[in-house]
Amino acid sequence: MIQKEVLEEKMADYRQAGAAPQSEPERQYYFMARAKELVADMEEKLGRKPTCCVVTFGCQMNARDSEKLLGILTEVGFADNGEDEKSDFVIFNTCTVRDNADQRVYGRLGILNGYKKKNPAMKIGLCGCMMQEQGVVEKLQKSYRFVNLIFGTHNIFKFAELLVTMLESDDMIIDIWKDTNEIVEDLPIVRKYKFKSGTNIMFGCNNFCSYCIVPYVRGRERSREPKDIIREIEMLVKDGVIEIMLLGQNVNSYGKNLEHPVSFAQLLTEVEKIKGLERIRFMTSHPKDLSDELIEVMKHSKKICRHLHLPLQSGSTRILKAMNRHYTKEQYVDLALKIRREIPDIAITTDIIVGFPGETKEDVEETIDVIKKVQFENAFTFIYSKRTGTPAAAMENQVPEAEVKENFNKVLKTVQETARSRVGNLLGQTVTVLVEEKNEQDDSLVTGRMSNNTIVHFPGGEDLIGTLVNVHLDECHGFYYTGKIQ
Ligand code: SAH
Ligand code: SF4
Ligand code: F3S
Repeated sequence: MIQKEVLEEKMADYRQAGAAPQSEPERQYYFMARAKELVADMEEKLGRKPTCCVVTFGCQMNARDSEKLLGILTEVGFADNGEDEKSDFVIFNTCTVRDNADQRVYGRLGILNGYKKKNPAMKIGLCGCMMQEQGVVEKLQKSYRFVNLIFGTHNIFKFAELLVTMLESDDMIIDIWKDTNEIVEDLPIVRKYKFKSGTNIMFGCNNFCSYCIVPYVRGRERSREPKDIIREIEMLVKDGVIEIMLLGQNVNSYGKNLEHPVSFAQLLTEVEKIKGLERIRFMTSHPKDLSDELIEVMKHSKKICRHLHLPLQSGSTRILKAMNRHYTKEQYVDLALKIRREIPDIAITTDIIVGFPGETKEDVEETIDVIKKVQFENAFTFIYSKRTGTPAAAMENQVPEAEVKENFNKVLKTVQETARSRVGNLLGQTVTVLVEEKNEQDDSLVTGRMSNNTIVHFPGGEDLIGTLVNVHLDECHGFYYTGKIQ
């Protein structure tokens, strides 16, 4: 992140100097200045500012990356058109964690093609995890010729440069890297929310869970330097942010590979000291690396939210082993119950996969048993999706679809039953809520989040957005509450 005035000055300097610098981020400042000229030409031709639209698929990391894309696009002169895909430049930031994510992108691309036929000057870009997957670029080259720009996860920092190349050419521009060690700081960002933000503390993943494509498309684990993270959060807080979400595929292994290793708990202690910051969240915690030190820090913290997302994936030790998760059913349950004991007001949520190769009815019963024992406040349940190139895809004993469906419904039902009683525990209490947005269905209501991540809807005006208010919890509706400001 960089302050706007500083950025503008640097852009002008590097542009004046002539040739593009080799070092980053200076090189990108140079290309931003060039893009600005090209976008100004477009504006003159159109008689209005050209519009852009960044569509995010997938997880919070992608959402953060999209903010970086939008930061550059608006800096060089595009008008942010929100979610309107009838824009002059539309970019899809894709996800490939499950096959249906890929299918959604192909479907939506078809619709974009229709828009482009009506507006031939329209440009279409694709980036994100799906672009790093084997075979995808070949398919796009063959059947989706109308796409103008394709790049991947490792070179997203080069977006300004790629944008210039695209604007200066009629060809399909493709730039995919296999991996990178680079972490480029100080590029512009436009945030979706004024009062809350995500920040990457690490990139990539080294865990290679046998079903998962993320390590292949996001590369090896790299941690950012604590000083860069702290500096970024301090700038965000100055800019109005009161809630920060620290992002990584496995935050518990943060800092292990830094020149001067730092634990995640130590990082949290430093973040806690930032004045003006009210709430700290993080995603995701791998159970195998969750330390007692972290539990201690959370327990005594005033700012770390009472929420832990702790993906279980399966409750069967046999399946966990095949998944390469490095913990047993008992270890998971012990850990979750220890956390509940140490931090009684914490909410624990999880991810579960149903239908992993070789999963039997007995294995599913083990998962259901864990759900009953831990009583998750919420669980995201996914049907196993075969990802080409992962070890699980080559396993022979794939489970028939009908059986998976049946098991899936059973797991879902258990989650709904246990969550309802657990979430409902706070009925009648008054809790602090960060107001996030106007209610989508009812204009007279606003929607906010409790420290433990549970959603609350209550009467209130837009002026409350971004503030912390006390709300009396009147009624529990399964996963969310309705209430009144106190
Ligand atoms: N790094 C995080 C998870 C990132 S992916 C972690 O390990 O906790 C988010 C979730 O998608 C995973 O927790 C898993 O439940 C699910 N997922 C990943 N690969 C999948 C696959 N091939 N099929 C179905 N679900 C999958
Ligand atoms: Fe995928 Fe496992 Fe890494 Fe999470 S920890 S991103 S599930 S490989
Ligand atoms: Fe999807 Fe990539 Fe996130 S595959 S879940 S967008 S890391």
